[in-house]
Amino acid sequence: SDRYCVFGHPIGHSRSPAIHTAFAAQCGEDIDYTAIEAPLDDFPGAWRDFVAAGGRGANVTVPFKEQAHRLCDTLSRRARRAGAVNTLVLGKKGETYGDTTDGIGLVRDLKRHGITLAGARILVLGAGGAVRGVLEPLLVEAPASLEVANRTAAKAEALARDFADLGPIRGGGFEAVAGPFELVINGTSASLGGALPPLPDDLFAEGATAYDMMYGAEPSVFLRWASERGARPLDGLGMLVEQAAEAFFQWRGKRPDTAPVLAELRRSL
Ligand code: ATR
Repeated sequence: SDRYCVFGHPIGHSRSPAIHTAFAAQCGEDIDYTAIEAPLDDFPGAWRDFVAAGGRGANVTVPFKEQAHRLCDTLSRRARRAGAVNTLVLGKKGETYGDTTDGIGLVRDLKRHGITLAGARILVLGAGGAVRGVLEPLLVEAPASLEVANRTAAKAEALARDFADLGPIRGGGFEAVAGPFELVINGTSASLGGALPPLPDDLFAEGATAYDMMYGAEPSVFLRWASERGARPLDGLGMLVEQAAEAFFQWRGKRPDTAPVLAELRRSL
């Protein structure tokens, strides 16, 4: 069977082996997918060793997405722009191709929930790597506006400058945020510590959606806060499964049905 893996540090809690093993069973593909904890100071060495042992491709998670970007021989346009890679593919001549499927995963999940992005006013919270990876696929959907708000305003302003040629994007601090928005996406890591960015109460338009890129058995503080203000809460489990499906497609040329895999994963949280 062909070998694939996810690289991270730590990697113990990764759901990717379960997701890809389920995809492979569904599509009749004979693959072996494991989780590998790469050393913090030698990600390229870990990828080289994996390829030498028969590896054909890999997913890459925290904290290696930038290192993975640097080692690639060729990159997708969106990976080059994002400065990060979450999917490595070994080419026929042994070259390494890199892509980032997080953003397309987010957009697919939003569409699956019936959310219209064209013409929507979108707010994205945060300006770290997770946010950088999703801006291009969001802008491609032609929203009316995309505002990026971050604790460190200068980082959001810099991101907006980097992506300005792709659509109507602006960046600033939380204090400058003025709704209403049809979609608010939390891409900060604040939820991890149970913190909530300072946001105005009148953030959401009628029928708005609040999306947290994080997921868990319980809704995050951000999603609880948003529900109380009338927004529909969605967590990032669907994004996780959709980004995996896109990586699987790049490796195997087949598109798995994500719905049953997502349902099973939800039950296991
Ligand atoms: P990731 O790869 O998850 O994006 P990152 O690049 O370290 O990680 O970015 C973390 C993001 O969460 C940043 O936007 C950070 O804000 P700063 O740029 O001001 O540091 C944001 N963040 C982390 N903790 C936060 C908190 N308690 N409140 C608000 N924002 C927070």
